[in-house]
Order: sequence, then C-alpha cells, then structure tokens
Amino acid sequence: METTFAIIKPDAVRAGNAGHIIQRVIDAGFRVRGLRLTELTRKQAEGFYAVHKERGFFGELCDFMTSGPVVVMALEKENAVKAWRDLMGPTNSKEAPKGTIRGDFGTDVGENASHGSDSAENAAIEVAYFFAASELL
Ligand code: RTP
Ligand code: MG
Repeated sequence: METTFAIIKPDAVRAGNAGHIIQRVIDAGFRVRGLRLTELTRKQAEGFYAVHKERGFFGELCDFMTSGPVVVMALEKENAVKAWRDLMGPTNSKEAPKGTIRGDFGTDVGENASHGSDSAENAAIEVAYFFAASELL
C-alpha cells in the first residue's frame, strides 16, 4: 500500500472548502493516516517548494502558501500518488475538469486548492516534513 502527501491550500481553507475536500478523500477510499491544521512559516514554504526556487513564480507561491491555515494529510491507498493527483486534476484550475478538486474549488494556476506529491519517493520526504512517525496511524 502506498502513502501520498496532500495539502488543502490556503485558498480552499479560506473559502470553507476543507470539509468538502476531506469528504472527497474519504469517498475515494483513501485511509487518512495523518491530518493536521497548520500554518506554514516562510522557511517551511521555501523548503517545501525548494525544487521550484529558480522559477519566476516562487515568491508568489511562497506568499500564497503562507497566507493562511492549510490542512496537511498523509493518505494511504493502492497507487495513492497517482490516485490523489487524478482526484485533484491538472495544476491549472482553469483547465481542470468539473468533478476534480481543482476544477471545483481552485481559481487559477497558482491558487489551485490542493497539493499532491509527484512520486512515492517525494511523498515519503514530504510526509516526514510535516509528520513525526508517532503521528501516523
Ligand atoms: P503541487 O506541487 O502544488 O501539487 O502542484 P503541481 O505538482 O500540480 O504543480 P507544480 O509544477 O509542482 O507547481 C507547484 C505549485 O506552484 C504553483 N504554480 N504557479 N504561476 C504559475 O505559473 C505557477 N505554476 C505553478 C501552483 O500552486 C502549483 O500547484
Ligand atoms: Mg508539484
């Protein structure tokens, strides 16, 4: 069984959509191993998205990710990484089909309601970035 890492981003929490998104997680058959409401520090956001630090949108991305509370989750399912990315839809909310999380709750390419790991290897790193082993059920 695979575990992926997910974030309900500040736009979705602010808009009151965290509960709707968690319900979709459960309905899609993920087992929630860890879940916490938190607010990223600048350092945490910059470290988490370090792979994008040379990109033009990096500053804007870190501003956005520190703009309010987020929900961090560790989610288990068969092929969890792909299953969660399929449920989220493509990065750009404007291109995301209705019925996907980004299609229904995102606004554009930056404010896109959710994050998902892009590989099992990165998922393990990202889960460990936010959860102690003792917090994972
Ligand atoms: P994520 O890492 O958040 O799950 O999203 P992703 O894999 O679909 O997209 P990625 O390329 O990793 O980009 C990370 C986040 O940066 C913001 N972004 N803004 N303004 C832009 O052109 C732009 N491109 C990406 C988005 O919030 C994206 O989710
Ligand atoms: Mg990504």
